Amino acid sequence: MLDFDNVSAVRGGTTIWSEGTFHVPSGQMAGVIGPNGSGKTTLLMMILGLCRPGSGTITVMGQTPHRGDARIGYVPQNYASIAGDSIRARDMVLLGLTGTNYGLRRTTKAQHERVDQVLAEVGAADFAARRMSQLSGGQQQRVAIAQALVSNPKLLLLDEPLANLDVRNQQEIVALLSRINDERDIGILLVVHDLNPLLSVLDGAIYLLDGHAHYDSVNEVVSEELLTHLYGTAIRVVRTPQGDLFTRSA
Ligand SMILES: Nc1ncnc2c1ncn2[C@@H]1O[C@H](COP(=O)(O)OP(=O)(O)OP(=O)(O)O)[C@@H](O)[C@H]1O
Ligand SMILES: [Mg+2]
Repeated sequence: MLDFDNVSAVRGGTTIWSEGTFHVPSGQMAGVIGPNGSGKTTLLMMILGLCRPGSGTITVMGQTPHRGDARIGYVPQNYASIAGDSIRARDMVLLGLTGTNYGLRRTTKAQHERVDQVLAEVGAADFAARRMSQLSGGQQQRVAIAQALVSNPKLLLLDEPLANLDVRNQQEIVALLSRINDERDIGILLVVHDLNPLLSVLDGAIYLLDGHAHYDSVNEVVSEELLTHLYGTAIRVVRTPQGDLFTRSA
């Protein structure tokens, strides 16, 4: 679903990372990891065509990135703070179909049915009539996912969808994304700081290490050496007697 050929990421005239050459197979559920400021959000911006690569070529499902690519759904970092407090959850999702001209354009019955379907799909139907400010972090994240999915994208990008969620909500959102990945047969790319809640569902990860972008399968990425180097602090990789894998600070 993604092909990067010798790509560099530039922000404000500064190269953030370079020499990104990798292929992410279609339909994958893949993580994006790297320390703060390493260029994870910038990577998503480039896929969305909102930020041009400094050099190299990016191909997203066969096309050069371009703004307004309807094949891509996007959940931005800090979604809740971007969403207006007083807007109703349901109307946020409708915005995913009508764009920012909401209120100016007429909405159709088919559009409202589509919104209802996706609200049910993500488990947000019960609180869809509430205002965004009245929802918990986990509920807001479900609304965010519904908004990104309502236009039937083939690729879903999520920037730190697990931030500010407790462990149970993290697990629920991961389970939801994994189900969407299977049932809708769409690719998912999500920025995360902790791989643990995702280890059982991820296929691979793009990792930003030493100013370069790489991609590898999850078995290769979950290595003490790589993660210790990546985060600049000792990380242990532990396998429980049951065979579950997890990472922790040493
Ligand atoms: N609009 C901008 N203009 C100039 N520099 C920017 C801009 N946005 C981000 N940067 C810089 O680019 C670098 C990468 O930022 P980016 O937001 O992609 O990192 P990140 O990996 O997503 O970080 P975080 O984990 O904190 O979200 C940072 O050094 C940041 O200061
Ligand atoms: Mg970021």
